[in-house]
Amino acid sequence: MKKKYSQDEIVNHLKATGYFFQNSEIYGGLSNSWDFGPLGSLIKKNIRDLWWEYFVTKRTNIVPLDSSIICNPSVWKASGHLDNFSDPLIDCKKCKNRFRVDKLINDFLNDSIVNENNTFDDMKKIIAENKINCPNCNNNDWTEIRNFNLMFETYIGTTEGKKSTVYLRPETAQGIFVNFKNIQRTMRKKIPFGVAQIGKSFRNEITPSNFIYRSREFEQMELEYFTNLENEDKDFDSLLQDMENFIIKELGISKDKIKQNEYSKDEIAHYSKKTVDLFFDFPHGWSELCGISNRGNFDLKNHSEHSKKDLEYFDELNNKKYFPSVIEPSMGLDRLVYAALIDAYEVQEIEDDSRIFLSLDKKIAPYRFCVLPLTNKLKNEAKELYEKIVSYGYSCSYDEAGSIGKRYRRQDAIGTYECITFDFDSIENDKKTITIRNRDTMNQETIKIDKFLEELRIKDVHR
Ligand code: GAP
Repeated sequence: MKKKYSQDEIVNHLKATGYFFQNSEIYGGLSNSWDFGPLGSLIKKNIRDLWWEYFVTKRTNIVPLDSSIICNPSVWKASGHLDNFSDPLIDCKKCKNRFRVDKLINDFLNDSIVNENNTFDDMKKIIAENKINCPNCNNNDWTEIRNFNLMFETYIGTTEGKKSTVYLRPETAQGIFVNFKNIQRTMRKKIPFGVAQIGKSFRNEITPSNFIYRSREFEQMELEYFTNLENEDKDFDSLLQDMENFIIKELGISKDKIKQNEYSKDEIAHYSKKTVDLFFDFPHGWSELCGISNRGNFDLKNHSEHSKKDLEYFDELNNKKYFPSVIEPSMGLDRLVYAALIDAYEVQEIEDDSRIFLSLDKKIAPYRFCVLPLTNKLKNEAKELYEKIVSYGYSCSYDEAGSIGKRYRRQDAIGTYECITFDFDSIENDKKTITIRNRDTMNQETIKIDKFLEELRIKDVHR
């Protein structure tokens, strides 16, 4: 098993190499807000594309959707988010710091004793009995506990009157439920079928934390799979397996860093009949990477009641109408990027030197190749090769600065899968070869340029 590295060590490396930057850094930043730099954007795009290919393109009964972030507020009333999507909050009267009460208690007691079912009185009692002080100023002068809704409010139009209050979506799923009938009718879909959507979601988290693990804006990749009561358990198990396979086989994340966590009835969200999360071994501890829920008919039934529109499905074969059950695999793209990078980070001692390298799967590495001219005299021809590789659609970079050894280290540090060294043999008429160096093994192979390019052109190598 690989060594575990601290969050600080990994995050410092990612910031130094162009994966991430602090948001609005030149203005002093915004707390717990991060921008994906060029390399972060590339890995994020690769994971997003793979998810789409795996859950949408390669399946015959999944259709896509791209719904609005801002909806009619009635959507959030019907979905239960206006009433239930909140965390218990408490403020320290002395230093004015704000805390999520369940987290405050659980962190203090180093145990998950508080969950959604504890009342405010329960939590108040636990704080008093255990003499839990403010983690910031160590005083014990708390406000009353109150609910804090996690949805971001904003306003439509120029006035800030109550009537124009709208919300930024806290999950992409509701856009799918409110379009269920439109999609089913226009796409002539029969149950079982699924609707997939990737997009930003927003939550005014009280304690955004652990780098990009918990942030206020993040991207979700969600699939709502419409099925029936008879098949819902079977479909749940099969999609859970798919989710696990996607993480381990497609993204190449180590199997031993993933485990399942099934929630008890007391712990699951208001809409769910059953939820299993996949946990990842993050530097801050094992915690939720993504999850799958059986939402039953909760959403379609509620939207039907609130909108007074019939959202039942008509089964022509059996001549009956019913609300479909919904199985929902939901994955946070930002968390997957973070988990893949944590899993890939490694410091290796080699002879009297050491190197940092990111052993990312070649399908998700920001660069599949990097072209390195051995000397400046070769840079024009090396650039031609680089441009050719790029024109085939491969993600490739080019590096001519510094010694070849330094350049290998620089590419290892950002996870480039293979370095292509362009030397004097590359321009010799009877040779025309390049050397390809693998990031993980550091083995080198010499190959004719024509053969290499032909393989790129015809081979099913991921771009
Ligand atoms: N539609 C179901 C739903 O939204 P969830 O467990 O609240 O369920 C699904 O969120 C996934 O979205 C999580 O497993 C996680 O990957 C990601 N996610 C949720 N809140 C997040 C946050 N504040 N920052 C980053 N990712 C988050």
